[in-house]
Amino acid sequence: MRKTLVAGNWKMYKTPSEARAWFKELLERYPTTPAEAALMVSFPSLPAAQETLSDTVVAYGAQDVSAHVEGAYTGEVSVRMLADVGCKYTVIGHSERRSYHRESDALVAEKARRLLEHGIIPILCVGEPLEVREAGGAVEYTLSQLEGSLEGVEIEEHDQLVIAYEPVWAIGTGRTATPEDAEAMHREIRAWFARRFDLAFANGVRILYGGSVKPDNAAALFAQPNIDGGLVGGASLQVESFIALLQAAP
Ligand code: G3H
Repeated sequence: MRKTLVAGNWKMYKTPSEARAWFKELLERYPTTPAEAALMVSFPSLPAAQETLSDTVVAYGAQDVSAHVEGAYTGEVSVRMLADVGCKYTVIGHSERRSYHRESDALVAEKARRLLEHGIIPILCVGEPLEVREAGGAVEYTLSQLEGSLEGVEIEEHDQLVIAYEPVWAIGTGRTATPEDAEAMHREIRAWFARRFDLAFANGVRILYGGSVKPDNAAALFAQPNIDGGLVGGASLQVESFIALLQAAP
C-alpha cells in the first residue's frame, strides 16, 4: 500500500518569514487526511522549516543539491548542509533545472548518489517536452531520462526514492495531462522499475504526477492506481489550496 504524497514545490517563491508564517498556519489548520505532506522550499527557508516542522507530520526538503561533497564551489549547497537542517526529501532533475541550467542525466544521477549517501530521499523528476509528446515519443524519452538519471545509482529499498513524472508542457501552463494519459505513463515507469529492480521495488516506489495539479483535478489524478500523489507548484503556494490537495487523496 503506497501512501499518497502531496509535495509542494515552492520554486523561487516566499521569503523565510513568509514561509515560517505559512508553516504555522498549515499546522493550525492541518486537515484529516490519509496523505503525507511535504514542502520543498528555497535554501534560506530551510531553517524556518526545521524550527516549525521538525517532529510534526509535515516533511520538508530542498529543490536541488550540489553533486559535490564539499569544496570550492561558490554558490553550491551540499548534501551535508541539507541533512543538517533536517531535510527528508530533495527534488533533483526538475525540468526547470534541466533546461535553464543545462543539467544532464549524468549530473542528476550524481546528485541522486549524494542524497542517498546521506539518507535523503530524492524526488527525481522526469518528463517529456511537448514536441516529443506530439511526435509520439513520450514514453521512450521519459524512460531514457529515468535510465540515465539512475545510471550507476545504488538503491536498496523502494522507499529511498520518489519519482515525479512532470510532462514539461503541463508545468505552470494550466494544461494538465488527462488522468488516463498520466496513468499510462506511470504504468510504464513502474514497469521499468520492475525490469531494473524487481516487482517488489516497482510496486512500492511512489510515482507522483506534476504539472498544473489543482484542487479541482487532484482527486481524479490521485485516484489512478499508479499515481501516488503530486509534485505541485502553483497550487501549493496558498495554505487553502494545499489543504484541498491533501484532502483529495483517496
Ligand atoms: O514541481 C512542480 C511542477 O513544476 C508543477 O508546477 O503545479 O505550477 O504546474 P505547477
